[in-house]
Amino acid sequence: MLSKSKRAFFLFLMVLTIFYLETVDAGDPNILSDFNLPANVTTVNGTFFKYSILQGLEGSPQTFQAVKASLKEFPALDGQSVSMAVLKFPPGSINPLHTHPRAAELLFLHSGTLEVGFVDTKNGLFNQTLKPGDMFVFPKGIVHYQYNRNHKEEAMAISSFGSASAGTQSVPMSVFNEGISDKILAKAFKTDIDTIRKIKAGIAKLRS
Ligand SMILES: *[C@@H]1O[C@H](CO)[C@@H](O)[C@H](O)[C@H]1NC(C)=O
Ligand SMILES: *[C@@H]1O[C@H](CO)[C@@H](O)[C@H](O)[C@H]1NC(C)=O
Ligand SMILES: *[C@@H]1O[C@H](CO)[C@@H](O)[C@H](O)[C@H]1NC(C)=O
Repeated sequence: MLSKSKRAFFLFLMVLTIFYLETVDAGDPNILSDFNLPANVTTVNGTFFKYSILQGLEGSPQTFQAVKASLKEFPALDGQSVSMAVLKFPPGSINPLHTHPRAAELLFLHSGTLEVGFVDTKNGLFNQTLKPGDMFVFPKGIVHYQYNRNHKEEAMAISSFGSASAGTQSVPMSVFNEGISDKILAKAFKTDIDTIRKIKAGIAKLRS
């Protein structure tokens, strides 16, 4: 039997652990000032808080294009737990399977149509076909894709993220990483080495 004070102490530890885990899950770290300045900057005016993504809205790319406004492009986002991207889908194009390890994604379809979906940790597929004005949320860290199945019209979407630096990990590029041996991949996918080499050759074309 534990003494009353020991039980109280363990309870306290449990509450502390739960509180800590929730804080860790919440998103980007909280900052102790209104905003963060880059190390080489001492004062700013309104200009610092503006970023123009017009280049993302103009023109029609030949392949899927994501124009980002994240911490890297827009330093004022540091510590604010938000970022955005303009996504352009030429007819028939896809944004291949990927994850954002540090944030959920809220996608708003501006024009065209998009088939979107994600696979949860129980391997269930949740998909939808979006029309302009629709939104879709991709849960944090979950594998997802977007596909413009219309072969005539471009689609354009605007995505926001709950992190200044959501990160993107491409499933094809990471899983079929050049460094992972063909033998390991053949075992993982219960197939032969030739098949793995064919897939890797296709992905090498994506990289170049
Ligand atoms: C601060 O450093 C960044 C990145 O190196 C650079 O782009 C920027 O021009 C610098 N700003 C000033 C005011 O020196
Ligand atoms: C604001 O800051 C920018 C760059 O730091 C500078 O070019 C601009 O002249 C400033 N504007 C005003 C109104 O002081
Ligand atoms: C979801 O995916 C299935 C399987 O590919 C497809 O048949 C179905 O049309 C999709 N649903 C929507 C709403 O896009």
